Amino acid sequence: MDKKMKVTPWEVSGEIDYDKLIKEFGVQKIDSKILDRIKRHTKDLHFMLRRGVFFSHRDLNWLLDEYEKGNKFFLYTGRGPSGRVQLGHLQTWYFTKWLQEKFGVELWFQFTDDEKFLFTDKSYDEIQKWTHDNMLDAIAVGFDPKKTHFLVDTKHASLLYPEAIKFAKKINFSTVKAAFGFTNDYNIGQIFYTSMQAVPAIVPSILNKKNIPCLIPLAIDQDPHFRVARDVYPKLGYYKPAIVHGMFLPPLTGTGGKMSSSKESSAIFSTDSPKEVETKIRKYAFSGGRDTVEEHRKKGGNPDVDVSFQYLRMFFEPEDKKLGKIEEDYRSGKLLTGELKEYLIKKINAFLAEHQKRREIAKKEVDKFIFKM
Ligand code: TRP
Repeated sequence: MDKKMKVTPWEVSGEIDYDKLIKEFGVQKIDSKILDRIKRHTKDLHFMLRRGVFFSHRDLNWLLDEYEKGNKFFLYTGRGPSGRVQLGHLQTWYFTKWLQEKFGVELWFQFTDDEKFLFTDKSYDEIQKWTHDNMLDAIAVGFDPKKTHFLVDTKHASLLYPEAIKFAKKINFSTVKAAFGFTNDYNIGQIFYTSMQAVPAIVPSILNKKNIPCLIPLAIDQDPHFRVARDVYPKLGYYKPAIVHGMFLPPLTGTGGKMSSSKESSAIFSTDSPKEVETKIRKYAFSGGRDTVEEHRKKGGNPDVDVSFQYLRMFFEPEDKKLGKIEEDYRSGKLLTGELKEYLIKKINAFLAEHQKRREIAKKEVDKFIFKM
């Protein structure tokens, strides 16, 4: 395996060193002080915050200063609709839903059909199909329909494009080349794209004719877009958006990088059947257990590299006590890999059963969520 870490919006590979990313990207670690500050407003802390799954930020203290002065923020996140939604996406979205609930704020959700047309081999029509499909997953998360607005880049172009060109005019080719590793054979749409992703962070300010702070929850591979765009917001008269960064849910095979829709054996999808989930976990989920039961009983397993344990920690076992017990038993050898996997399979399938139920209902709700210009 190529161990060298690479993290861009379009490629995540190698073993991820989050401390190194914090330094390279120039972001701040989420420490106990800022967690306490969040807790003052939310009463409890989401387990993804407690466990450092959302681990770094930009300008969160500023955002909370504004909030405490009565200047409410809105949330902004998005999805590039190029295929089925998988657990890695849902992780960020369920966390975003918690933020929406706790702070009682609006969410703007961007579907970047333009991006996925420009960056993949898929046809425009296929991307449109995925846009609709992926909306069902976003709705199934349970965002407040009254406070949530979907933007589709090509459909809301008359709102987004006039702003995008203002960003584009202030970002030059060498900046995006350096930020994303673009070379001369990239198409010109790809070079322009970051300016489209920048815009939703100012849309509510434009519509309300006053500046409103923005918080963007994302997996850290999306940060480079905003690293580039954040310099531009003040030049156009807006606040820089604040950001909270999530870790990547590891691929099933545990070989570095992130769970990715383009590799079947790496991902569990939102629409997988219970049987598929079971087969994938049993067959692919990388185990930190020992080769034989005897050896495992004697020496114990390693939850730190065990993908099943990591899925529980990062997403599927919110209760600290239960997770702690599982960790302890796995380390001591009392809990076997097979047993750990069965536990995870049950958890994921219970979660997906609920998600899929809401996803069915969502088919009738799409129109409610699409922003009416
Ligand atoms: N580019 C993202 C993707 O490929 C989609 C996206 C658009 C996004 N705007 C965002 C993600 C803001 C996080 C935050 O999935």
